[in-house]
Amino acid sequence: MPTDIIQWYPGHMAKTGRLIRENLKSVDAVIEIRDARIPLSSKNPDIDKLTRGRPRLVLLNKSDLCDRSELPFWLGHITAAKNVMCLAVDCKTGEGIGSIPGKIKELCAEKLASYESKGMRGRRLRVLVLGIPNVGKSTLINRLAGRAKAKAEDRPGVTRDTQIVSTGYGIDLVDTPGILWPAFDKRVTAENLAISGAIKDEVTDTETVALALVNRLRRRYEGLLRERYRIEGDIADLSDYDLFCKIARSRGFMMKGGEPDLNRCSASLLFDLRNGKTGRITLDFPEDFGIART
Ligand code: G4P
Repeated sequence: MPTDIIQWYPGHMAKTGRLIRENLKSVDAVIEIRDARIPLSSKNPDIDKLTRGRPRLVLLNKSDLCDRSELPFWLGHITAAKNVMCLAVDCKTGEGIGSIPGKIKELCAEKLASYESKGMRGRRLRVLVLGIPNVGKSTLINRLAGRAKAKAEDRPGVTRDTQIVSTGYGIDLVDTPGILWPAFDKRVTAENLAISGAIKDEVTDTETVALALVNRLRRRYEGLLRERYRIEGDIADLSDYDLFCKIARSRGFMMKGGEPDLNRCSASLLFDLRNGKTGRITLDFPEDFGIART
């Protein structure tokens, strides 16, 4: 798995941690974007510490690609934390985006009341937007800002390089250039991040990643797997690897000597998953993280 990424992590985090701490002083709340297909794997492990109890709205983005029947569980799990609300959104179509300003105002109700009592009625809220790479941070900011992205502005409490983006909802978004890496300590997390495309294929072994995908599909989405790859017969006794080879054969991905072409099959499996062609799939299974379903 991508051990080289694990080595990059501390340096990037130190810079991001500094940026977040500097900007946190001037913000009322935090929007944390995660990927709805991997609601836990796309969480930054330091986010609770970094945001130091600021009211937080967790957005499960790319919900168009996730298994909707899994959403209630994850929404409940995430909102069990203090001062945290959670919404499923699809930044590509805009679904769920309209609820964001109301949720932010709900999270900041005390702050707004306190501003009002100090004679600052109608004061704009400032919200820091965070998320791991490729999770849809820019798409969300563009959506909320109506695509009119503001240039970097010189305002008190705002770090250089940080962009303040105004929206028409009485909310300003603080966009930091820092990179929030996810956690790679658990193998399942690294695999799910790689399957979803959050970790680039160039730094992973795509056959290992695709094999992990075969494992997730057979465990919860056997029907979708059979349908997409025309798999027939009993597969219960096949190892993940044997099933992977069977998929390659079924798709006609063969090499000259008659061996399955696992490289081509990997690319195809991952492309299908990332583009929703396999179906709506959630890759984080609570039991893989020791979380009981309630
Ligand atoms: P980032 O700033 O967090 O790095 O992410 P960014 O907004 O650049 O989005 C990363 C990719 O995810 C983009 O695809 C974007 O279109 C896609 N995306 C964002 N939100 C959603 C969503 O809700 N659903 C789906 N299905 N995709 C989403 P791309 O292929 O890199 O670029 P593009 O050509 O699609 O813009």
